[in-house]
Amino acid sequence: MTDPKILDGAAVAAQIRAEAGAQAAALAAAGAVPGLAVVLAGEDPASEVYVRNKAKAAREAGIAARTVRLPSTATEADVLAEVEALNRDDSVDAILVQLPLPGGTPHARVLEAIDPAKDADGFHPVNVGRLVQRKPAPVPCTPAGVLELLERSGVPLRGARAVVLGRSDIVGKPMAMLLTHADATVTIAHSRTRDLPGLCREADLLVAAIGRPAFVTADFIREGAVVVDVGINRVSEPSEVARLFPGDEKRAAQLAKNGSVLVGDCHPGDVRARASRYTPVPGGVGPLTIARLLWNTVELCRARRGAR
Ligand code: GUN
Repeated sequence: MTDPKILDGAAVAAQIRAEAGAQAAALAAAGAVPGLAVVLAGEDPASEVYVRNKAKAAREAGIAARTVRLPSTATEADVLAEVEALNRDDSVDAILVQLPLPGGTPHARVLEAIDPAKDADGFHPVNVGRLVQRKPAPVPCTPAGVLELLERSGVPLRGARAVVLGRSDIVGKPMAMLLTHADATVTIAHSRTRDLPGLCREADLLVAAIGRPAFVTADFIREGAVVVDVGINRVSEPSEVARLFPGDEKRAAQLAKNGSVLVGDCHPGDVRARASRYTPVPGGVGPLTIARLLWNTVELCRARRGAR
């Protein structure tokens, strides 16, 4: 039986994908097929899966998706050259450089080289600034998807106390900004925060994006809080899997087959027991990230070519 407390990320993602698909069809009818280019350097297995899923979802929405592959020996200059070619290509509306780059190549210069008008992830400093000032801009896909999920699920945000656990450029910082714009009172917390469990217990809404498996336990969660778990961590230690998922035969079988299971940033049993509503891992936030990428692509196409 499905848990009625679950915030249904897959259902909201399907809505967003359908809306993006309708917009893409309208743009195509006006002569502008939205184009997405994903740059994948190296062979990181997780990135391979993400990029394949992004390209497939884009095609299903009527977006012309292309994956540009570079070898794991690609240098920063190689990636920059590819980004510059895509900036000049008028059929490309949105560019996404999958992170991390191979061999620990720094990504700041690469992200800054993407034309801000083609910035699928909204990571360019110009777009970060525009988000802060609440001006139209592509917004990083995961936090934008989380906000859609909360709003479309009727979670009250105005005046709510929100704690964002994690301060990354990809999730924590933009998430805090979006929640602030939605009239929540937001605290960004992190590994150095004093009395982290006590602070998190004050939250009506807790967004966990700290990248540590099952870090958020019962003592972080006020009874009845809404908890969004952005974490995607792999756990391979059998005793740890048994501790986190006692009696879960499906997980045990996954561990035997794949050598690991996915665990969010929240302890699965604790969040289920204490939250009024929560996102499971997997199946919570993941599908929303891709849906918002399609949305960003269509919006960038409209902004760049739609007025013609
Ligand atoms: N790697 C992990 N998450 C992301 C993301 O949202 N965008 C890009 N480009 N790379 C990522």
